[in-house]
Amino acid sequence: MANTFSVHPVGRFAGPSQPLKRPREFACFSYDKDHRYHYDDSSMKWYYPPQLGADLSKGYETFQKHDNSQDEHIDSLLETIMRHEKETGQAIDAKFVTWRGMMTKIMAAPFDDRDGFEMNATLYRDCIFIEENWAYKAAQEQQQKNWKGPIPSEVMQYWGYKFETLSTLPAPWGEVSREYIEGRDDEIVNNKEQYCSVVRTGIGKNVICLGGEVDCIWDAKPQEKGKPINWVELKTSAEIKSDRDMENFDRKMMKFWIQSFLLGVPKIIVGFRSKDGILQRLENISTAKIPDIASRKPRPLWDGNICINFANGFLDWLRTAVDDEGVYRIRRKPRSPEIEVWKVEETGHGKILTDDFINWRIKLAMGPPPE
Ligand code: A3P
Ligand code: MG
Ligand code: MG
Repeated sequence: MANTFSVHPVGRFAGPSQPLKRPREFACFSYDKDHRYHYDDSSMKWYYPPQLGADLSKGYETFQKHDNSQDEHIDSLLETIMRHEKETGQAIDAKFVTWRGMMTKIMAAPFDDRDGFEMNATLYRDCIFIEENWAYKAAQEQQQKNWKGPIPSEVMQYWGYKFETLSTLPAPWGEVSREYIEGRDDEIVNNKEQYCSVVRTGIGKNVICLGGEVDCIWDAKPQEKGKPINWVELKTSAEIKSDRDMENFDRKMMKFWIQSFLLGVPKIIVGFRSKDGILQRLENISTAKIPDIASRKPRPLWDGNICINFANGFLDWLRTAVDDEGVYRIRRKPRSPEIEVWKVEETGHGKILTDDFINWRIKLAMGPPPE
């Protein structure tokens, strides 16, 4: 029997938002050009404006595309948490650990019911660890590929990564040659390389540890850990030509806002493109102002406070639904008014937790060996 949490009516989540904790980065990691893990910031990028008029399809033939046929679970997030805990000698205090993308799906649920989602969750030492259900995601991606438009979906996806390559530098501006800056249009686009930030954040009483990719930084990381960081999220979007385009963009803005807000990314730079992928103009958007912009529309399509309060209510409820050993499935079917949770494995943690992580936590709980 599944436990259910009702998404609708969303009006019950209206009103002032639950208290939020500002996300603080406490660790980070990088995937290099071969998608190898490093416990450092070596893949961090710096923002530098791109040349307008660039063709975002250029170089598609040489795209170094990450092979996502393997389920990576939350392994690299756990690895990073473990390395951080080895440095501090104590376990993190979060009650939820997951990728930022999972929290984005949950927060967007009140206003986005098209796609649906599936996740796996397990309780371990008073903390719920959540991963994406990989088989469901793979099926969704296959559907996307089968969608036939004037431009193949793979090429349109490439545009987003090409925009990142055109807009970033591998080091601060003063340390990069003019040739590199001007030659970025010839750089090979590679989405295996990533910088990921791992933050402690909170909604209401729920302390959450999130890991997520960050595109680039505006200036430099502050010396002191935990201080706000001037991250920049890069996005591409089709030029807005009609009321319908505007409505689509407003809905996209909700996702941009949630995604950035969860990691404490203060700025989003949108590269508007023509329908055939020519970069036409840039717009800098302050993340914090997005919910206000949405609420001032004559017919608001979403409400940021409802997103936050819904997520808080859902997490409170999830703690009562995932309260035993084993592995649970969290599912929202497309267009469903509710989220269901049920047990799929009676014992253990499935593949959500790694042996390394569990062994480390056992060792940590035993304390230092006697002298
Ligand atoms: P755009 O969003 O600019 O089109 P992110 O913006 O999250 O850093 O992701 C970078 C790019 O990855 C996106 O660029 C898009 O091309 C691709 N991408 C991310 N999430 C996707 C999804 N759910 N489906 C298809 N493509 C996605
Ligand atoms: Mg990105
Ligand atoms: Mg981006």
